[in-house]
Amino acid sequence: MRKIYLDNGSTSFPKAPGVGDAIKRYIEESGANINRGGYQAAYDVADTVLETRSMLMDLFGMGRERKKLSEKNVVFVPSVTYGLNFILKGALRSGDRLVISSMEHNAVARPADDLSKAGVEVSTCPCDGEGRLDPGAFEKMLDRGPKLAVINLASNVSGTLQDAAAISGICRARGIPLVLDASQAAGAVDIDFDELELAGLCVPGHKGLLGPQGIGAIMITDELADMMDPIVTGGTGSISDSLEMPDFLPDKFEPGTLNIPGIIGLNQALKFIRTETPSRILAHELRLAGRFIDGVRDIPGVKVIGPAGTAGRVGVVSLDFEAMDNADAAYRLESSCGIMTRCGLHCAPLAHRTLGTYPRGTVRFTFGYFNTEEETDHAIECIKEITSK
Ligand SMILES: Cc1ncc(COP(=O)(O)O)c(C=O)c1O
Repeated sequence: MRKIYLDNGSTSFPKAPGVGDAIKRYIEESGANINRGGYQAAYDVADTVLETRSMLMDLFGMGRERKKLSEKNVVFVPSVTYGLNFILKGALRSGDRLVISSMEHNAVARPADDLSKAGVEVSTCPCDGEGRLDPGAFEKMLDRGPKLAVINLASNVSGTLQDAAAISGICRARGIPLVLDASQAAGAVDIDFDELELAGLCVPGHKGLLGPQGIGAIMITDELADMMDPIVTGGTGSISDSLEMPDFLPDKFEPGTLNIPGIIGLNQALKFIRTETPSRILAHELRLAGRFIDGVRDIPGVKVIGPAGTAGRVGVVSLDFEAMDNADAAYRLESSCGIMTRCGLHCAPLAHRTLGTYPRGTVRFTFGYFNTEEETDHAIECIKEITSK
């Protein structure tokens, strides 16, 4: 049976053209480490790693206006989960305050819970039934001077996109550092680090950036970096005579050997994204998401969760199959029609509570740049088929 991959919110597939070949070439023809070898192959790889930091800066508008920011402010991490832990646990201590939203993934909610047990006061700003943060309510949450605000830019459950300009404006007016978890937005949504005056931006390499798993980046200002202690320490290839981590970026938060195959794959993927452009990618994903929502909206027993149309969202669409178990629906979608989705709580119970789908969860369809209208129509027909039996 033909397979249709609609789980790009989990990880993108296929990856950008050339990603696999670039990784294979590096593994088979170079394999050199950086910061640890005094020979040309190591310098060549170091150049590619630096170029990849630079490409991330260009893509996310970092350093264009805020001239102090440079490649050193791009820290490679194994995933956004690690990056968020580095930021949250590195920056917050007992007695500090943290503001998050009620749409957060467990990558924020779990470290926040750990911190609350360690004496950090965590305030969760409620969102409406479609997952949208009310800027007014958010502003009130800042009254008691949190040390940090961390919010999800686009929901991995409902695709709801927050108003980053409004939220960042509120934080800026009060001098509160804002960190965006852009896991479901990076690569499709235009994000301008400088214009939004962000303190931090967390991006996974393996979702919308169309690179491999195991690589992501946190893009952080010097001010945020100064607030953060390194929570993982070890070799960096720099100031090796000291038992303390270097206090400069990116070394302060890059202990151990970097995932160089991952960075090489990401480099290739970023070239593709740069050519295609995030706005064209988002337009395609929204065309499919809109077609899908229009096609399923009136099917009895199927409820679209989150924004009803294509405004204020990304290409993540959750459905609640009200008359059946959602896990059963996902199973039948694959076994009858080869459609791959993800059911359950999507590591985001807070978001499901906000959207009214806890504990049932939903079936999530995430449209990627390589999906087609024909695949979308096939998914709609399959949903009609499994709900009519
Ligand atoms: C909104 C959001 N934040 C964080 C993460 C964690 O990303 P990773 O699993 O790559 O660490 C995800 C992953 O699905 C996500 O969707």
